[in-house]
Amino acid sequence: MLLLAVKTLHITTLVIWCAGMLALPLMLAADHQGQSQEKYTRLRLTLQATYIWVITPAAVIAVFAGTALIFLAEVYVPWMFAKLVAVGFLVGLHGLTGHAIIDIGENPERARLQLAVPRFVAALGLMAVILVLVLGKPVIPLDLVPDWLMTPRDIHLPFDEVPI
Ligand code: HEM
Repeated sequence: MLLLAVKTLHITTLVIWCAGMLALPLMLAADHQGQSQEKYTRLRLTLQATYIWVITPAAVIAVFAGTALIFLAEVYVPWMFAKLVAVGFLVGLHGLTGHAIIDIGENPERARLQLAVPRFVAALGLMAVILVLVLGKPVIPLDLVPDWLMTPRDIHLPFDEVPI
């Protein structure tokens, strides 16, 4: 029951996150030539508010719920770690999108399709990779995993006994 609830939360929030990652770059690139300053400012503030109050909280909840799922579903397998690498890139793209929203406020000429299309394609590609991994659950042979990931680092917590 808990697993179902957390997975539902994970999927609901990541749908909102992914929708934002596709919509925001395109909205940033809309042609604003000839638009009044007032309308342009309103669009920018709407983008900013959507990013801060909807897309980013959805991303944070999706990541927290996903992290809880690792332990609830006990998914300690190589495809999961490959998925986490792809999610890391998606998080980086999320940060870049936030930066672009601030940037076009100061430099409206940067709101160009040439910048938005690569971001859109990258987000779509990463989502496809993540979905193939999580839905296909491919068996990744352990010999493809680098040695340094498989070797204990011999680093200990800074106390003798683990507090319970
Ligand atoms: C740090 C971020 C994330 C973590 C830690 C995470 C972790 C997980 C875990 C552990 C599961 C359960 C897998 C299972 O039961 O076999 C899961 C399910 C799922 N995740 Fe994520 N995830 C993250 C981000 C994402 C993103 C960004 C997407 C999509 C673009 C995504 C798509 C899915 C889907 C579709 C499922 C359901 C798969 C199924 O039940 O067959 N996740 N996630």
